Amino acid sequence: MLKGKKIVLGITGGIAAYKAAELTRALIKEGAQVKIIMTKCACEFITPLTLQTLSGDLVYTDTFAPAVKWDMAHIALADFADAFVIAPATGNIIGKIASGIADDLLTTTIMATDKPVLVCPAMNDKMLANPIVQENIKKLKKHRYQIMDSAYGELACKVTGAGRLPDTPGILEEICKLLSPATLDGLKILITAGPTEEPLDPVRFITNSSSGKMGYALARVAKRRGAQVTLITGPTALTLPPADKIIRVRTAREMHRAVLDNYKMAAIIIKAAAVADYRPAVMAKEKIKKNKESLSLMLERNPDIISEIGRNKGRRIIAGFAMETENLLANAKEKLKNKKMDFIIANNLREEGAGFQADTNIITIIDKNGQVQKLPKMTKIEAAGAILDRISSVINKKGAIKK
Ligand code: CTP
Repeated sequence: MLKGKKIVLGITGGIAAYKAAELTRALIKEGAQVKIIMTKCACEFITPLTLQTLSGDLVYTDTFAPAVKWDMAHIALADFADAFVIAPATGNIIGKIASGIADDLLTTTIMATDKPVLVCPAMNDKMLANPIVQENIKKLKKHRYQIMDSAYGELACKVTGAGRLPDTPGILEEICKLLSPATLDGLKILITAGPTEEPLDPVRFITNSSSGKMGYALARVAKRRGAQVTLITGPTALTLPPADKIIRVRTAREMHRAVLDNYKMAAIIIKAAAVADYRPAVMAKEKIKKNKESLSLMLERNPDIISEIGRNKGRRIIAGFAMETENLLANAKEKLKNKKMDFIIANNLREEGAGFQADTNIITIIDKNGQVQKLPKMTKIEAAGAILDRISSVINKKGAIKK
């Protein structure tokens, strides 16, 4: 997501400055190009050498240092950036930006940029609660600054309260959001993900090897693009993605209920879950004992959730997935038509790099007019972006059902 993105990271003088090292590493790992500006006080907490080593670039600390690579560093850095991040941001830097003070390289550069700026406040809880600091934060929000809420927890001064620097994954997610197009702004999306489990007895169940990665990637990217996301998820081993509402279910029938209860307010429904088509007709109350040579299981059909929604979809856009092992396009097109979907995303489980457990996918997006878009192997986050691009283009033409 951050591949090739240019980030200028401003570090100010609070104890959380040491966490900027981890953030720098994470940004570099995500493929970003990072340039760092440190205030004089930040250099008391962590050395420029550490950040220089991690970012692989010069660290800027002084407005008046002779330019090694850049003319007028504050202007060059302001132009270079796709986005600015100030982490940690002390009460002092927040106050200076809010008051239009530009007395060092970081404040001068921030004043000189028209790029998005993410501010991550970190300070003692009483400092954060100070009405002047709060007023300054409000003022920055009113202008073009994105302010992250500080995390709650134990602070360096040993008290527990609000004021911790948000964790690195949270900051990364916010940066991705800052750099994403707001194409789904205000739209409600319902996404299902993961497998379902159909119990045979109290300890055994029938399931499939869906990891939930594709559905979670869709939820993450939709959220980055400004959607209000409801995620209905079967059991997975993954960390939950950011979403406005998360409903955990186990069986197909629970998923069916959760979808029926929530789909009406959604403009877009994406069914990425691998729903079990059948469940054991009877669930044994006690553990089934191996007292027979062979055992037959009677299975009965689960409700086909997407078909039911398809019949009552109104102006909603519906997308489903087709996981196939043969006749990929023909089977997918038939499902698209039978289940009254607007899009179906087909992938072949036999292809290397596609399907359930991988971090990548090889998808073909087919729309209800028969248009086929075959995409190369990409990460599931990229695939989610491509799917949401196609859906947004239709929503925009059709006129979105906004709340
Ligand atoms: N689906 C659903 N409810 C079911 C089964 C599937 O909503 N009971 C949805 C899936 O979430 C997916 C789409 O239907 O978006 C296609 O799922 P798939 O398992 O490929 O198709 P099936 O209709 O189950 O057909 P088959 O298993 O025979 O290939």
